[in-house]
Amino acid sequence: MVFAGDWTNIERIAQGDYYMRFTTAFAIAAVTAIAFGATAVVAQQDPIAARKAIMKANGASAGAIGKMVKGEAPFDLAVAKKAFATFADAAAKMPDLFPANSKTGGDTEALPKIWEDMADFKAKFVKFGADSKDAEAAVKDLDSLKVVLGVVGKNCGGCHQTYRVKKS
Ligand code: HEC
Repeated sequence: MVFAGDWTNIERIAQGDYYMRFTTAFAIAAVTAIAFGATAVVAQQDPIAARKAIMKANGASAGAIGKMVKGEAPFDLAVAKKAFATFADAAAKMPDLFPANSKTGGDTEALPKIWEDMADFKAKFVKFGADSKDAEAAVKDLDSLKVVLGVVGKNCGGCHQTYRVKKS
């Protein structure tokens, strides 16, 4: 009887131990998934949709500061700074969103040249990011906005001209 009791005990301990390891592993996996972030998961699943959404946000931000420059909206420093921060964020995220399996589909306007000249394409994002950060720091009034938007804006057209389908 003593032996039987010991075995039961060992079994229970073994089961408990296994259960604990299982729940710990599960908890770590869950926390990692949350920390990784929903956008990262979406980006992996659908990089074309992710990069189009990021660029759409760029377009909206550029529109908002463009209106200030044209005098169609009052100058708003917070909005201007946020726009350049949006560009810098986009520049950091975009280079990872062009895996080899995303050349076609999803209404992409990305040109094949991106994958032929990936180093140059990525370098353009580095410059775009640096110019955007400089602009975010430098903008303080409408006059300075005009100057920095001129510098940053060249990045948009310069890249689209080579790497994005031209719209007629
Ligand atoms: C280094 C390259 C690069 C830079 C810099 C860049 N873009 Fe783009 N942009 C692209 C590419 C590539 C696409 C096409 C993505 C696709 O369809 O897969 C695109 C697409 C877009 C789109 C269309 C999004 C849609 O609805 O599909 C807009 C709007 C846009 N960009 C705005 C901007 C603005 C504004 C800037 C500057 C503030 C900018 N982009 C800077 C490469 C760039």
